Amino acid sequence: MMLEVSGLKVYFSSARGDVKAVDGMDLTVDRGEVVGLAGESGCGKTTLALAISRLIMRPGRIAGGNVFFDGSDVLKIQSEEFREKYRWKKIAMIFQGSMNGFTPVFTIGYQINEVLEIHNYMGDRKKRLDDLLKMVDLDSETATRYPHELSGGQKQRAFIAMALAVDPDFLIADEPTTALDVITQTSIINLLKKLRLDKKISILLITHDLALLSEIVDRVYIMYAGKAVEVGSADEIFNSPKHPYTQGLIASIPTLKNLHIKGIGGYMPDLANLPPGCSFASRCPHVMEICKNSEPKLLTVKEKQKVACWLY
Ligand SMILES: Nc1ncnc2c1ncn2[C@@H]1O[C@H](COP(=O)(O)OP(=O)(O)OP(=O)(O)O)[C@@H](O)[C@H]1O
Ligand SMILES: [Mg+2]
Repeated sequence: MMLEVSGLKVYFSSARGDVKAVDGMDLTVDRGEVVGLAGESGCGKTTLALAISRLIMRPGRIAGGNVFFDGSDVLKIQSEEFREKYRWKKIAMIFQGSMNGFTPVFTIGYQINEVLEIHNYMGDRKKRLDDLLKMVDLDSETATRYPHELSGGQKQRAFIAMALAVDPDFLIADEPTTALDVITQTSIINLLKKLRLDKKISILLITHDLALLSEIVDRVYIMYAGKAVEVGSADEIFNSPKHPYTQGLIASIPTLKNLHIKGIGGYMPDLANLPPGCSFASRCPHVMEICKNSEPKLLTVKEKQKVACWLY
């Protein structure tokens, strides 16, 4: 297993107490696998990604659990060592709104070159820069441009090029297509598909857009209020979802035939004040007495499919 997250807890201290953004999350990604992570806004997806990348800052803290990458617990590695050996090289990330993550005063080429420099890239840097831009379908002239001279889609591609600069083994893409038009979204997803085929790169793709996920992932995690409530192969999740929350999410995917979709009623509970029992109980159409008192564990129901629900 390339990445193994177990029992991870990330809490943010606040005046109302600890906001339990990630609260006992388990997740694995195998070599060459593309794994999706979906769930409503605020369920902890970005926080999880930041924790894996060692980017949790105050008032946040790791309150428990482990993150193993290639057998090493990355939460225990000194931050300097992490920066030298892991960031960009083993674990690269494209974050939510990262297309705005370029510094406005330097050219795209300068900023990509900086990653090559930090990691002592030994080959021909000019050629590498050209190749990277080509890989994401940008022409080499893009290197001389400033971020504001590019469109949103072009900037996102350039950022992906930067993330791939030193051939990472694992790419975390957090909402890489949000705020882009549908055509550009599709082309970015096709680019990720190509990377996975050509480079055998493992990808954790985070998005609340399940329709988009269904086009590319091998397995999907459904996250709710800080933990995984269901995981399975793309086929299991999209064709026979088990958790009432997953079923609600799947039913909310708009299709041409089904434009009058109904969402899931109610709201996610306050993460600073989680109810006992199942966090989804207050919104669940199948709620039972036990759900309100006792928290269900993530248990296998079918080959790759696990679900945390008292119905099973
Ligand atoms: N720096 C912070 N300080 C305090 N609370 C935070 C901080 N960052 C995140 N949170 C809280 O943690 C919870 C999870 O946030 P997170 O950004 O991980 O959600 P998300 O699943 O990525 O949502 P979205 O789909 O909107 O991107 C939220 O309740 C949020 O308010
Ligand atoms: Mg997010």
